[in-house]
Amino acid sequence: MKRIGMLTGGGDCPGLNAVLRAIVRTAKLEHWACLGFKRGWKGMIQNDFEELTLASVSGILPRGGTILETSRTNPCKKEEDMQKVRETIKKNKLDALIAIGGEDTLGAANKLFKEGLPIIGVPKTIDNDLNATDYTFGYDTALNIATECIDRLHTTAESHERVMVVEIMGRHAGWIALESGIAGGADVILIPEVAVTADEICDHIVARHKRGKHFSIVAVAEGFSIKGEDLVTATKELDAFGHVLLGGVGDRLAKLIEKKTGYETRCTVLGHIQRGGSPTAFDRVLGTRFGVKAVELVKLNKFGYMVALKGRDIVEVPLADAVGALKTVPMDMYELTKIFAG
Ligand code: F6P
Repeated sequence: MKRIGMLTGGGDCPGLNAVLRAIVRTAKLEHWACLGFKRGWKGMIQNDFEELTLASVSGILPRGGTILETSRTNPCKKEEDMQKVRETIKKNKLDALIAIGGEDTLGAANKLFKEGLPIIGVPKTIDNDLNATDYTFGYDTALNIATECIDRLHTTAESHERVMVVEIMGRHAGWIALESGIAGGADVILIPEVAVTADEICDHIVARHKRGKHFSIVAVAEGFSIKGEDLVTATKELDAFGHVLLGGVGDRLAKLIEKKTGYETRCTVLGHIQRGGSPTAFDRVLGTRFGVKAVELVKLNKFGYMVALKGRDIVEVPLADAVGALKTVPMDMYELTKIFAG
């Protein structure tokens, strides 16, 4: 009989509960014990967990967030915390630990695996920026929410003949802004991968208005920088993984556009709405398949891997391949904006 630990780390994301449910239900077929560590790596440092049974995961499939809660705790920042993680694994006689998270959580998982700990990763992030997997769960839900918001902004923009700037999540990669912008028919799409000048943005909007379209939608990722300007951030402080909290570029752009074009402009920040609520069917299925695969890897004692989606298949890839570099938007996808935006 094996004992599996699991944790959810980093920003929450729709589909986390689907993964937890799948792990527990698959492990219970083998009569294995499942321990859910609370608040990401913090629970491993503090040995804070709850035993997960079939009853504890019943009814959680459609629920957003994570029943284990989460934090942005970095267990590798201090040697004493890494030691506590080792002790927690030993004390609870864990045969495996499944870490569900993005670049930061899995980066820590990879470091701890290299120290000899039996860890498996499951890729999560609404940003879809993890390498070595075609998709992370949570992305599809965020994309659909952002698309619906752009649809809603369209009708009010048109009625008032306004420019509506919509600020969308995406720290280093513009997947949500790009694809919701294409799906929602945004007129300007701005992503962190490509810097554009304020003049280029305004010229595009003016040209559109001259063609008789008296409203425009600008979809901008929070990590976009106006060419020649610094990245706009909400604060200067860094989190445990060295990231600054983003936010504010939408407002900055709206003010610039109104000043340069004379068109009335408003900004809407979608923020955490994109991360909340019920996962789409796609994310529930992907999360479920990831959870089942993670338990299969435990059965095979295959540690240091992350489960991943490649085409239609769920496969395992070395954790190191997933966390080395981010999966940013390829330029051929961005080129689509030249045809469809405007
Ligand atoms: O990494 C996911 C994400 O939603 C980013 O898109 C965003 O920059 C960040 O998390 C926000 O973090 P927090 O939840 O700490 O405000």
